[in-house]
Amino acid sequence: MGLYNDVVMPRLVGRVCGHRFFDPWRQRVCEGLGGEIVEVGFGTGTNLRFLPPAVRRVYAVEPSLVARAAARAAVERTSIDVEFIELGTTAVARGSLDAALSAFTLCSVDDPRRVLGQIAAVVKPGAPLHFLEHGLAPDAATARWQHRLNGLEQRLAGGCHLTRDPLRLLVESGFEVDTYVQEYARGPRPWSYFTLGVARAPRP
Ligand SMILES: C[S@@+](CC[C@H](N)C(=O)[O-])C[C@H]1O[C@@H](n2cnc3c(N)ncnc32)[C@H](O)[C@@H]1O
Repeated sequence: MGLYNDVVMPRLVGRVCGHRFFDPWRQRVCEGLGGEIVEVGFGTGTNLRFLPPAVRRVYAVEPSLVARAAARAAVERTSIDVEFIELGTTAVARGSLDAALSAFTLCSVDDPRRVLGQIAAVVKPGAPLHFLEHGLAPDAATARWQHRLNGLEQRLAGGCHLTRDPLRLLVESGFEVDTYVQEYARGPRPWSYFTLGVARAPRP
């Protein structure tokens, strides 16, 4: 993938996503989490400081070795156990985890339905998935810009898509959306239509 995507991009994303502007959003998405959780797209560990004390262990899913290395300081600072795992392996027993967390990740994964299926496999049936994502805007003018910019965004921002609809992805993957809010955050509109909520993993 090259120096930019492998080395520069993960650090840049860590810096941008770690901006204080996002803190209140992170606070909200982490509220109510507890027990053993999986965080998909762990990045540089930015969410660790927002996790409630009830969280005992985080199984962190993060393919970028550069992001993992940059997460070391955050991992050392927290009293929560953090273990890096790969989804789709036997690292965690099926149906064993209490909850899942995804923040600004469904935009970046290559196959969001596969990843959601892998999350569903490791959490308990009906377990909460707390999500905070940016995505396709409801107004036509912004959506047009999102479609125009989408290719460039994917090349420059580590595969990030501007045109995904997180609620739709969740529902199509068998999750039941419990609660959500959607609103424009501050900032350029193609990147600022946020969806924050809790969905329940599929029950057999
Ligand atoms: C925009 S960053 C968000 C990082 C972090 N969740 C945050 O809130 O700041 C998206 C992250 O998803 C990771 N990622 C990409 N593909 C992934 C996959 N298939 N599974 C898990 N994480 C993935 C990227 O390496 C990147 O660290």
